[in-house]
Amino acid sequence: MVTNEQVMKTLEGVHDPELGGNVVELGMITDVRIEDSAVEIGLALTIAECPLRNQLENDTRRRVEAMPGVEHVAVRTTAMTKKQRAELMSVARRRVRERAEPTQVGPTTRVIAIASGKGGVGKSSMSVNLAAGLAREGFEVGLLDADIWGYSIPRMIGAKGKLEADPDSKLIEPVEVSGVKVVSTGLIIEEEGTALMWRGLMLSKALEQFLQQVNWGDLDYLVIDMPPGTGDVQMALTRMLPQAQMVVVTTPQSAAQRVATRVADMARRSHMPVVGVIENMSGEVFGRGGGDELAEELGVAMLGSVPLDQAVVAGGDAGEPVAFSDDAGPAARALREVVDHVIAVVPPAELETCTGRIAKLIANLEDGAA
Ligand SMILES: Nc1ncnc2c1ncn2[C@@H]1O[C@H](COP(=O)(O)OP(=O)(O)O)[C@@H](O)[C@H]1O
Ligand SMILES: [Mg+2]
Repeated sequence: MVTNEQVMKTLEGVHDPELGGNVVELGMITDVRIEDSAVEIGLALTIAECPLRNQLENDTRRRVEAMPGVEHVAVRTTAMTKKQRAELMSVARRRVRERAEPTQVGPTTRVIAIASGKGGVGKSSMSVNLAAGLAREGFEVGLLDADIWGYSIPRMIGAKGKLEADPDSKLIEPVEVSGVKVVSTGLIIEEEGTALMWRGLMLSKALEQFLQQVNWGDLDYLVIDMPPGTGDVQMALTRMLPQAQMVVVTTPQSAAQRVATRVADMARRSHMPVVGVIENMSGEVFGRGGGDELAEELGVAMLGSVPLDQAVVAGGDAGEPVAFSDDAGPAARALREVVDHVIAVVPPAELETCTGRIAKLIANLEDGAA
């Protein structure tokens, strides 16, 4: 008869390729029951519809079946509770952090990745205005356009000029706009033709260069406009900036459940904790409430609801984001609120006092107990 320890040891050979660890260390094995030559294993997945479900189940079964003395194996798959998932993510994040490559982004810089379940929801507009708003509050802010192929940040924030390397340090200097340090492939590429040439050659490496060879300086915040989907850029970002936290932009009418699933999947693949939701384009046309629902679904903070407002479009087109101005319109006011909430949820390093950490710890414990 095999022992519990032997089964666990064998299960250490079952690897979750996305989370980068084995199912035992990741805490995915909930229990092992042994009766003579029959073994039953509880396997908890981050989400029930995990794309790797079959692979993990089969791998678990096969490995244990191959153990001498085992004849029958049953794998009982369950979805993790919120608390289990949080614990798993923190283990996975720690592992990623240990393997992170060095970058020019300082260890005390708060990295906020702006993502969404789909395009056109105002991700870039929110990135630009969040960066502008944080700079207005007096913080040192960087804005990285990680939408390498579909860049729009330079136009929206009014960044002109080109990225150039300092001859001595060889580091690339960001283009500064009203206190925001901007980096984007749009600041390298002159025109479509050049873009095509760049594409094959260097764009695939652009993100790495932006993190390793840009003189970001001592930033309080680095806001990243994420590309759509979960491709190479996300993976590179995860590898290099494991401290990144995700803010999700959604529209009022998006089906919260569906977006939540997609976002949870994105967060899981990138090991990034989701810290809040911004609802954009709320108002009479699209309604409101999608942001609240999504925040509820994800169990994170609702950072604000930005109304559909012509001022956002005009600001983006003119390269003068509303958050830079004293605009008293509805979107500008809502954006100021978003900025305040982001500062509260992701406080700059020096503001994160001990009491702040204790308060967060208590909130987490209460959350876990619920
Ligand atoms: N709150 C808003 N009110 C009005 N128009 C908006 C608002 N937010 C974004 N837009 C407009 O919607 C379009 C898409 O926004 P964008 O930020 O480019 O989205 P994404 O980056 O998600 O594709 C842009 O033309 C932008 O000006
Ligand atoms: Mg965009």
